[in-house]
Amino acid sequence: MVWKMPLFLFGTQMSIKWILLFVLIPFISSYNDSELELRTMRLMKQSPLIDGHNDFALQIRRLYQNKLSRINLRILNSTRTNIKKLKDGYVGAQFWSAYVLCSSQDKDAVRLALEQIDVIKRMCNEYDELELVTSSEGIVNTSKLACLIGVEGGHAIDSSLGTLRMFYDLGVRYMGLTHTCNTPWAETSSYGVHSSYQDTKSLTDFGKEVVKEMNRIGMIIDLSHTSFNTSREVLNISKAPVIFSHSAAFALCNINRNIPDDILKGIKKNKGLVMVNFHTQFVACQKTANISDVADHFDYISSIAGFQSVGIGGDYDGVNGFPRGLEDPSKYPSLIQELLRRGWKDNELEGVLRANFLRVFREVEKVRDEQIYMKPSEEEISADELNYSCRLDLRSFEPKNLQKSGGQEKGRSMIDLILSIWIIFFANMFV
Ligand SMILES: *[C@@H]1O[C@H](CO)[C@@H](O)[C@H](O)[C@H]1NC(C)=O
Ligand SMILES: *[C@@H]1O[C@H](CO)[C@@H](O)[C@H](O)[C@H]1NC(C)=O
Ligand SMILES: *[C@@H]1O[C@H](CO)[C@@H](O)[C@H](O)[C@H]1NC(C)=O
Ligand SMILES: *[C@@H]1O[C@H](CO)[C@@H](O)[C@H](O)[C@H]1NC(C)=O
Ligand SMILES: *[C@@H]1O[C@H](CO)[C@@H](O)[C@H](O)[C@H]1NC(C)=O
Ligand SMILES: *[C@@H]1O[C@H](CO)[C@@H](O)[C@H](O)[C@H]1NC(C)=O
Ligand SMILES: [Zn+2]
Repeated sequence: MVWKMPLFLFGTQMSIKWILLFVLIPFISSYNDSELELRTMRLMKQSPLIDGHNDFALQIRRLYQNKLSRINLRILNSTRTNIKKLKDGYVGAQFWSAYVLCSSQDKDAVRLALEQIDVIKRMCNEYDELELVTSSEGIVNTSKLACLIGVEGGHAIDSSLGTLRMFYDLGVRYMGLTHTCNTPWAETSSYGVHSSYQDTKSLTDFGKEVVKEMNRIGMIIDLSHTSFNTSREVLNISKAPVIFSHSAAFALCNINRNIPDDILKGIKKNKGLVMVNFHTQFVACQKTANISDVADHFDYISSIAGFQSVGIGGDYDGVNGFPRGLEDPSKYPSLIQELLRRGWKDNELEGVLRANFLRVFREVEKVRDEQIYMKPSEEEISADELNYSCRLDLRSFEPKNLQKSGGQEKGRSMIDLILSIWIIFFANMFV
């Protein structure tokens, strides 16, 4: 008979103990969970997250041709990122990627990069919740969500140090040396994806000059997407700490976009930073992953490079495929909670969230300030390293050509003069 079952179960001391335990376990673990949740919230309020890489601006171009007036970034849901989700994720500062497709190399890469910088600046000016900042002090000072700009892919400077400096003047504070293509001066981790500049190996002499100039002006060097040899060479020569704005550990997922141990050790020595990417393909080398897989990369990178060299660069809106439980920027707290559960200490997580990046940024600014006496580099890449098909070489201008354009100027002046006379004439008619 059914009613006798409970009597049977409660029949011995042993059974009662087991049942009590069975009933209490969910309460014990949910008590721990809610305590961890509280600790997570407290930590993230105190140390709002600085995220190293978000490709939202690329999606704004792809989906809306940068027409901000047509969308509301607070609640936009065609992207993984919106302002509400960033707030829910306790994000205090976001590096927005001004990303330019490799297929624009030697074509309109510079214009496209400028337009991405423009859309980031417009969005950060138009929304009260956001503020564009360009220094470590700016991040610390603002009570808003700090916007920072990073250019992804060195092809965006078209092998020109003048262009690099102008990007800095526009507020860009890191540049990835490559995306998925070699530039004439730096080698990518994505072999064979693009056919341009197949012969580039590691960093060329001009590449070293780019690194020196970035050190001099205070532009953070981002090594995500560069080949191992490029990273090694940069670590060998950079005077300032460098970052990987969105990369994970090669030991846990053997792909070239991740970082092998010797480079993790190099980052430790350089006092640089690895901002861990969440993309499932990089984290788990497959289409699915969970929070635990991502946390493994934090444990691993910390064990090789030290917790002072660990940060977060989620790569939201840059790729398809995020781990279960980390689908968008509102989910960052789940990761912090998992790391707390694994025994990470509060001060270590304060570093991961914020302090480690601020340390790197301040050091980059210090290296800049120490070189205040150095003049801007006037190095140029040699012509035979470039694919010149889309370049105008001003050295080849004949005086005849210059005169010709002078002639056009004169023609323009004549038209302007006639126009002015007409305007004066009509203006007088109405006095
Ligand atoms: C996404 O946003 C649009 C426009 O604001 C709204 O109509 C739609 O219901 C939203 N979809 C979801 C899944 O929230
Ligand atoms: C940060 O705040 C301090 C104190 O108010 C101020 O002197 C400084 O100019 C601010 N710096 C920036 C970059 O906003
Ligand atoms: C140079 O650029 C042109 C135009 O993009 C391209 O067709 C050509 O293959 C390039 N040459 C080399 C050697 O990369
Ligand atoms: C990296 O550089 C080393 C030393 O120059 C060289 O032997 C090796 O082939 C390079 N690796 C790749 C993948 O090019
Ligand atoms: C680092 O620099 C030294 C000389 O300063 C050089 O001998 C060595 O090959 C460089 N290593 C790499 C990986 O570039
Ligand atoms: C996460 O996925 C791994 C396999 O990658 C699995 O072993 C583990 O149990 C999963 N953890 C959770 C909490 O789902
Ligand atoms: Zn990327």
